[in-house]
Amino acid sequence: MAKVWINGETSVEVKHAEGVNAVHLTVDDKDIVVSGGQTILQAVERMPGIGNIPALCYHPAVKPYGACRICTVEVSEDGGSKFKFVAACLYPVKEGLIVKTQTEKIKKLRKGIIELLLARCPNVKRVQELAKEYGVEKPRFVLGDQDCILCGLCVRACQEIIGKSAISLVNRGIYKEVAAPFYAYELSGDCIGCGDCAFVCPTGAIEMGPDGKPVLPKVKIPYAEIEAMMKKETVPPS
Ligand code: SF4
Ligand code: FES
Repeated sequence: MAKVWINGETSVEVKHAEGVNAVHLTVDDKDIVVSGGQTILQAVERMPGIGNIPALCYHPAVKPYGACRICTVEVSEDGGSKFKFVAACLYPVKEGLIVKTQTEKIKKLRKGIIELLLARCPNVKRVQELAKEYGVEKPRFVLGDQDCILCGLCVRACQEIIGKSAISLVNRGIYKEVAAPFYAYELSGDCIGCGDCAFVCPTGAIEMGPDGKPVLPKVKIPYAEIEAMMKKETVPPS
């Protein structure tokens, strides 16, 4: 007879569960049983009070992507001798897995990510909430005024749920941003105005406009500069 936790306060005694796709694991010193074929984050999300894993680039409606790393946890597959960091939104539950969601190392790592996000998006409510929870006050970096954390959820929702690519993540590095493909001024006819992108966005960076189409986060490279760059790169016909 084993004691397993079904939420943060309640446990039950279980004799055996043969023939069921059940996976036994320990999360923050609580033994739990969950169905196999899901990630640590999915399993823990269904068990109130077990573990504490923040997530920004995860939404149950689209495939996990592992962009923000705020869901990092420590896991051991050998009974607790060795632990490693993994993204809970990508890592599958396994028999005998030991998961720790709130160690000092994890808190430090999340704090670092939150500090960067707060510097980039100081006015975003979700980022402010996380900063408060993890004790991040004033970022050491220059403050930006973005509201998009580049989680890519909007783009993935458009592709995976609607089967379109009306928006994309364009450019690289510090110029990466969400925009209409090829920096078009307007969203193309591919956008059906479903609002999925705005719905899944964790920061409110996308809103639906009066024309029923999403208003994307403001672009960092002004259109005039893009036009100038494109003109410069255009090779005149010989
Ligand atoms: S607009 Fe929203 S959903 Fe899209 S990448 Fe930015 S934060 Fe993520
Ligand atoms: S929620 Fe797991 S990497 Fe973002």
